[in-house]
Amino acid sequence: MKILLLSVPRSMFHSKSKALIRALTITITALSVSSVFAVTCPKTVVQKDAWVLKNVNQLLLKARGAYEEEKLEKAYDRELDRLSLAMKQCRMSEEASFVERYPNFVEYVRVLSLEHQPGHELGFEVTDRIYFEETKEHVTIPEFLLTPSFLRAVKWHETLDQAKSILSELNATRSPEDKLLYFSYESRHLGTPDNDFSYRRLLIVVPGNVARNEPEKWVQFGIPDPKSKVPIRNLSVVSVVRGPGETANTYFKDYFRTYRRNGTITVKGRWELGQGDDNCLKCHKSGLLPIFPEDGSVSANEKAVVEEVNKRFSTYVTPRFGKYFDTSKLGPGLGSNRTNVNGNHASLAMSCAACHQPNGLGSLNWPMDSVLIGSFVQGGRMPFGTTLRGAERVELYQQLIDDYFAIDDKHPGILKSWLLGRSQ
Ligand code: HEC
Ligand code: HEC
Repeated sequence: MKILLLSVPRSMFHSKSKALIRALTITITALSVSSVFAVTCPKTVVQKDAWVLKNVNQLLLKARGAYEEEKLEKAYDRELDRLSLAMKQCRMSEEASFVERYPNFVEYVRVLSLEHQPGHELGFEVTDRIYFEETKEHVTIPEFLLTPSFLRAVKWHETLDQAKSILSELNATRSPEDKLLYFSYESRHLGTPDNDFSYRRLLIVVPGNVARNEPEKWVQFGIPDPKSKVPIRNLSVVSVVRGPGETANTYFKDYFRTYRRNGTITVKGRWELGQGDDNCLKCHKSGLLPIFPEDGSVSANEKAVVEEVNKRFSTYVTPRFGKYFDTSKLGPGLGSNRTNVNGNHASLAMSCAACHQPNGLGSLNWPMDSVLIGSFVQGGRMPFGTTLRGAERVELYQQLIDDYFAIDDKHPGILKSWLLGRSQ
């Protein structure tokens, strides 16, 4: 079924052990570099320019590798650590003239490196502990989704209809604007953090209430495959707190269910259970994500709900992430307006940023996920409202990626131009 693209396990991005190993590597590198090979820091402006150019090229080359091939992620991680260490040792971000000359580059390396710091698996400005502490009121799972009968019903594919009838009974008592929206589907993009090969989901949208200051919560349960004897542990929430104007702050949390021998099922934060966490923003640049399910995986009577849910998604323009991350520090995204674009699909490519930009759906910028982006473009869903033939989609996709990561000195791509501060 999944012929178009390989699906990715979300859990493989940043396991706890990986973060630990990385922290150790940084320490060891730091020790060895400072004591044995001192870094040669560029001194003159000319040297600094050359240094930045060389390092931007190296970083983007590795980033593109990691975007295209999962096994190249480690090489990218090492490159980023090396660069961020060198900048620290040369005290570049303390040097006003350097920061003034390369403001985008200095901040970029800092925010990209956040997820490499110990205790920062989510990649936010604060540690995961502080993030979950401060945002817990937004991301708690509503009580009615944690009752023993509901948790038992969502445990198996075979009893999913029971779970849905519990939701339908709840809806009978809720006012029209409070009604839950729910459907089950199969993801075309990724497995769950506890099972790389589990694609089935039950999504429940719990409407918020601005007057009562309640965020809207999109709660998603991983559901085992039919006949499977192994329950899925993960359930996640993305919640949206509407801010002033059109902005909406989005908060994230993964939970794990624990199935006990005596039949009880408990729910606790995945991070709190020591099961690691992920950089949600890598894929969730638009805050919530629309649901673009595997073809044929939604039953006929729930298709309208998918549409309604996606319509709701589109009312949340201007995604923000509280004070925890400012995605504009990652620069412009795929398909941004540029003057030196060539090729047949230039106008289409450029059009992504008409909608995917900081005051729209959020820029699609690095770090990002090739399965998600490839699927929306090559699967024909993007650019929104256009119909392209299969071959054109593949070509457009390739061009978008080239145009974003290109490091050619004469024709730098979107990211390089911006990092060197030469954009616009
Ligand atoms: C590798 C990409 C990726 C990462 C990383 C990721 N997600 Fe998602 N997530 C998706 C996609 C794609 C969807 C849309 C449904 C689908 O296609 O599977 C989604 C949907 C969701 C949903 C359903 C609501 C919605 O937005 O549609 C929740 C809840 C969710 N993710 C939680 C999280 C949390 C919490 C994290 C971080 C701990 C996270 N995700 C990290 C790709 C990702
Ligand atoms: C006219 C506005 C518009 C344009 C232009 C557009 N998109 Fe989208 N994009 C949307 C909307 C609306 C959604 C959510 C719609 C849905 O699938 O239900 C979306 C969703 C997406 C998503 C999944 C959500 C996310 O934020 O990750 C990706 C990836 C994406 N678009 C990529 C692209 C790319 C790449 C281009 C350029 C080739 C593009 N889009 C052009 C409006 C647009």
